[in-house]
Amino acid sequence: MPSSSDSREAKHRARSAKQLVWQFFWLLVPLRRQVLWILTSATVATLIGLLPPAGTKFIVDYGLSHKSLPEPWLRRFPSLSDPRQLLLVTVIAVALTSLIKILLHIWGRWQATKMSKQIQLNLRRRVFEHAVRLPLHRVQEIRSGGVASILREDGGSVGELVFGMMFDPWRAVIQLVGSLAILAWVDWTLLAGAIVLLPVVFLTHRTWINNIRPQFRVIRKQREQIDAGATESFAGMRIVRAFSRQKRETARFTTENNLMARQELYAWWWMRAVEMIWEALIPTASAGLLFYGGWQVLDGRMTIGDLMMFLVYLLMLLEPLATLAQSATQFQNSLSGLDRVLDLLEEPREMPSIPAALKVDRREVAGRISFEHVTFTYPGGDAPALHDICLSVAAGQTVALVGPSGAGKTTLTNLVARFYDPETGHVTLDGRDLRDYDVESFRSILGIVEQDVFLFDGTIAQNIAYARRGASTEEIRAAAEAANAAEFIDRMSDGMQTLIGERGVRLSGGQRQRLAIARAILADPKLLVLDEATSNLDTESEQLIQQSLGQLMRGRTSFVIAHRLSTISRADVIVVIEQGRVTQTGSHAELMARGGKYRSMVERQIQMTLGNFTAPMTSEADGESSDVR
Ligand SMILES: Nc1ncnc2c1ncn2[C@@H]1O[C@H](COP(=O)(O)OP(=O)(O)OP(=O)(O)O)[C@@H](O)[C@H]1O
Ligand SMILES: [Mg+2]
Repeated sequence: MPSSSDSREAKHRARSAKQLVWQFFWLLVPLRRQVLWILTSATVATLIGLLPPAGTKFIVDYGLSHKSLPEPWLRRFPSLSDPRQLLLVTVIAVALTSLIKILLHIWGRWQATKMSKQIQLNLRRRVFEHAVRLPLHRVQEIRSGGVASILREDGGSVGELVFGMMFDPWRAVIQLVGSLAILAWVDWTLLAGAIVLLPVVFLTHRTWINNIRPQFRVIRKQREQIDAGATESFAGMRIVRAFSRQKRETARFTTENNLMARQELYAWWWMRAVEMIWEALIPTASAGLLFYGGWQVLDGRMTIGDLMMFLVYLLMLLEPLATLAQSATQFQNSLSGLDRVLDLLEEPREMPSIPAALKVDRREVAGRISFEHVTFTYPGGDAPALHDICLSVAAGQTVALVGPSGAGKTTLTNLVARFYDPETGHVTLDGRDLRDYDVESFRSILGIVEQDVFLFDGTIAQNIAYARRGASTEEIRAAAEAANAAEFIDRMSDGMQTLIGERGVRLSGGQRQRLAIARAILADPKLLVLDEATSNLDTESEQLIQQSLGQLMRGRTSFVIAHRLSTISRADVIVVIEQGRVTQTGSHAELMARGGKYRSMVERQIQMTLGNFTAPMTSEADGESSDVR
């Protein structure tokens, strides 16, 4: 089991930009047909966009300066010898090509937008699918808000790469090559000047980009922290208010946000530096060209139309360079999102199934559970929570786990539920190591009622039905009745359709527990884990619950953690756990006869119950006497 001390930052293998770009294109492979269409339309649209400046040259050189068109042109289109006619035709042609270009461009952009959404969807699904299968300790480390942050921010930014890394750069490159070709055709010396700019692009990219991505990574990490913190504050709002910590929570949120703002401002400078260079370069280059070209025109080596066209093309050449520079900084941001998503996707899932993993067939499972010399340490924990546990539970038996707080009772049931695997030794089901089973199929025979009940926002019926997909209304009803929950459900105005709020906030503790029991009953498990399931109930409800639990436990191997004698004494086997070790096993009668920890616990509990029984009476008596006085 990996230790949790190697946090995600440490695990992060610095991916180079090249690897990330590869990974991104890998995501595009299934969408290659769409990619092809998008790139084709972008190419055609960009090339068409290169035509209108040639029209300007035409008008200036032939239409406005009363120079006649070249001979072959005149022979084919005699009507163009009239300058007004030429003007009209050229303008119409320019307008039409521009229109076609715009339409094509929009179509390509629309396709690219759809594709970016598709990538976002796919990736978010993959991240979610993976995150719900990460080992529990990792999920706890990232925290719920953190996962949400990765899903939303980082998963979303990868979709933007469609533009940042494919659509925009591709158009820029086509425009660059196209205008370079035209420039070369008009005057190759000017082209040579333009080409000098290229190494500048290369250098700025190399230097800046490798610096910018890590900064974005840090910002994203910080955002994950903030989201996780904020989610936690709101989840624990009752405690925040109870201890009047609103100010402190706000301050914490603000401090973290301040840090992020500062990181963002720092990154801003790196981003703007690249852009500023480009913004300065464009006017400088145009001025230089104007000077050189003007000289050529004065010397009669170039027409005014040529010069005008040249200036337009130069802008067309520089514009994509600026786009490339700008999109480079932006896609570094998106790439860092991809980087983080990949980090998460590369984390091993909990208990990955080996290909030969057995599927659990509930009809064939007897439900015999054994612990063979099991030692277990929580990931990141320094001392084992369980030491050398040996325990054998026959199919259908009920085991009561008792022991002081922090002894390891919940931990033992965690191993039964396979939330964790033992460090050494084996937990076996019907004689086979749990590790041989496919974990998800194993859990399908498991029912759990946890120490702190977790319910989802939704209706009561939905929460009970969470245990089994496709359960009918009657089955849900029957489960609620068996858990003695029907009684309070019927009293609610919407009955089974009552909305219970996030984590079931609109229910009382005891009601929540009964829903959890109904949920476990509906699952009809072979193995049952009950952790203090009856602690929140009044005596009457508890009796009802005890009955239904008794019924629920019949025929299932059950691990029950209960502090109440009534539950404990009815168990087939009682296991006393102290400091992670099993110190006593046996039936109630055996253990009572044997003496030791169990008997002293029982005796103490009886004493306390008696004490409770008498204490209120004395205080009441006191009260009465004070009233009299
Ligand atoms: N997720 C965890 N990570 C690290 N250590 C843990 C974790 N959960 C529990 N522990 C440690 O393992 C030990 C056993 O805890 P466990 O929850 O099993 O106690 P318990 O017997 O169920 O106590 P209680 O009766 O109070 O519920 C404790 O010392 C606790 O600090
Ligand atoms: Mg516990």
